[in-house]
Amino acid sequence: MPSITDQLDAAFRKAIRDAFELDADPLISASANPQFGDYQSNAAMGLAKKVAEKTGAKTNPRQIAEAILAKLDLGELASETPNIAGPGFINIRLNTGWLVNELNRALADQRLNVPLAAHPQTVVVDYSAPNVAKEMHVGHLRTTVIGDTFVRVLEFLGNKVIRQNHIGDWGTQFGRVMLGLWYDAVATHKHEEAKLADWIARALPLVKGPDDESADARRVRFAAQDAILDAIVPWHQAAIDEDPNGTGIFEPYIESSFPNLKRLDVLYTFASAVTAFESAKSRIIKHPTHGEKSLKELASFFATFVQKQNLDENRQEGVAWHKSIESTLATCQAIYDKLGVKLTPADAYGESKYNDALPGVVSELLAAGIAQMSDGAAVVFVEGYEAPLIIRKSNGGYSYGTTDLAAVRYRVNTLKADRVIYVVGATQSQHLQQVFAIGKRAGWDRRDAAHTTTFEHTPFGSVLGEDGKLLRTRAGGTVKLAELLDEAEDCAFALVHEKSADMSPPFSTDQMKRIARAVGIGAVKYFDLLRDRIGDYKFSFKAMLSLDGNTAPYLQYAHARVCSIFRKAGVMRGSTAVSALADPNEISLAKVLLKFETTVNSVAVELKPHFLCTYLYELAGAFSTFYASCPVIQSEEPLRSSRLALCDLTARTIAQGLDLLGIEHPEQM
Ligand code: ARG
Repeated sequence: MPSITDQLDAAFRKAIRDAFELDADPLISASANPQFGDYQSNAAMGLAKKVAEKTGAKTNPRQIAEAILAKLDLGELASETPNIAGPGFINIRLNTGWLVNELNRALADQRLNVPLAAHPQTVVVDYSAPNVAKEMHVGHLRTTVIGDTFVRVLEFLGNKVIRQNHIGDWGTQFGRVMLGLWYDAVATHKHEEAKLADWIARALPLVKGPDDESADARRVRFAAQDAILDAIVPWHQAAIDEDPNGTGIFEPYIESSFPNLKRLDVLYTFASAVTAFESAKSRIIKHPTHGEKSLKELASFFATFVQKQNLDENRQEGVAWHKSIESTLATCQAIYDKLGVKLTPADAYGESKYNDALPGVVSELLAAGIAQMSDGAAVVFVEGYEAPLIIRKSNGGYSYGTTDLAAVRYRVNTLKADRVIYVVGATQSQHLQQVFAIGKRAGWDRRDAAHTTTFEHTPFGSVLGEDGKLLRTRAGGTVKLAELLDEAEDCAFALVHEKSADMSPPFSTDQMKRIARAVGIGAVKYFDLLRDRIGDYKFSFKAMLSLDGNTAPYLQYAHARVCSIFRKAGVMRGSTAVSALADPNEISLAKVLLKFETTVNSVAVELKPHFLCTYLYELAGAFSTFYASCPVIQSEEPLRSSRLALCDLTARTIAQGLDLLGIEHPEQM
């Protein structure tokens, strides 16, 4: 049985064809306002022009709508003839008997009447993508949660989804990671951990002054930087003189004392700070085989050094690189598991994987005349963008963009994607549009004559603090995702604990912990998905954990409430059917229930998770109104069973909706 939208679509398509001999999309959507009807077709507006062109006679959308209605046959679907509103919207009101049948069909269907895609696709979703040696921060929350919703919705619709965690595990940053590790190795070796800790604490605030820094303040800051370099550089040099090959200090440290991600992040940040210091350019370190290099040069030297060794796992640097990735991924995985997202270690396919493909990308684009040389660099100009995409720097290094171009080819040719979705922040929009345009120009979006892959960027806004600025810790640092999630669980636990006091019997501690995790993590995720993703939002535990309002706990509570109705009624879920819809509030609830399928499909097409949130909130609201005015357990049969069936379908729809958002739905809370 095709869905409501499919049936309406087919009927309208036929009417349009019969009226004008034209094939056109009837543009069926669920009505925003039930006063006007349940569904609407917006086809008349666009058709007016086409019909006028075809016949040469002038016409307007209202006349078009009338002509469509004259041919339209909705059969059982609608109780009355659709009416025309405004410039030519056609409003459709569904028939009650038909609604009852559809509700029972949904009750009997595991998939709640949501059909599998007629033409399933292979869809690649590029999301999360943290960088090596960096703890995930709140910025990664959005890509991870939004991307995972796409994965779930597209999979539910029967598509083959390939998750790609495009981790930042390549490039110049690794030189600074290495330098940080080296400092830690030396400090550990000499038992000078306290000394290093002191430098770290002093160095970080010195990197950047305030925007309105005075010349005097800057001089003071640079002097403080120099004081640190005066201490570090000779210390660094002495260690190199003692162990030039790294076999005495560095190797044992890498083998047996490799830091966890939290520490790795600190060391990396420290090395980034000191190499960015003003006089890092003129502080020279001498190495017997690598020669003389400034502290600043040393970082990029290390990076290319590792890359040239091609990540040789038998070399110290290769080992350090692999361990950095491992440590990062392991920590990220713990967060993915806690968040309940589907990413696994097998989905990590980072920038380094494309290393071997980079020279080919550049040479092909040069040969095709798509890339050109400019000041020793290979660049590609894309129409509409002033700055070109640099694909090979003048020093021979490749860029983030080259890697993304290689990824385009891999996703098209090897993964055989029909659709690729990039869940990446709005700040990378230009970059990705350039990559897509270049890929298309090179023909890399076609794996063969019959298959063209589409590329979509789904940008999203930022997470703000209550002050409306980017969310920061009180000390001004980035908020670590792991800590944020812990806090969410703690807040939720307090809430559950309080509620549990009114329950008899109260929840066990274990039960409370489980519910707190579902509620706390669910609240964070839902709050992130709830509005159009392009906008920013203010992070607030209080708002996201509120039990009234459009929040996860509200929906979870609505779900748990229905579960408790069944427990009280002593009736098994799934054992009853809808027999009639008499009360207007029953009819309203029924109509909302039957919009689930259109909603899920619209999320898949437009890649807007908030469509589903808005829907679930509307459903929970319709249920509340129904439940407040229609007695369920107290009703006589057959009304009692029929209403229980409505309750059941409501709970199942909320649960399925929350599943698609990756949010748990406890039966009790
Ligand atoms: N690692 C990047 C970052 O943290 C995001 C990567 C997004 N995906 C891509 N194919 N460029 O900014």
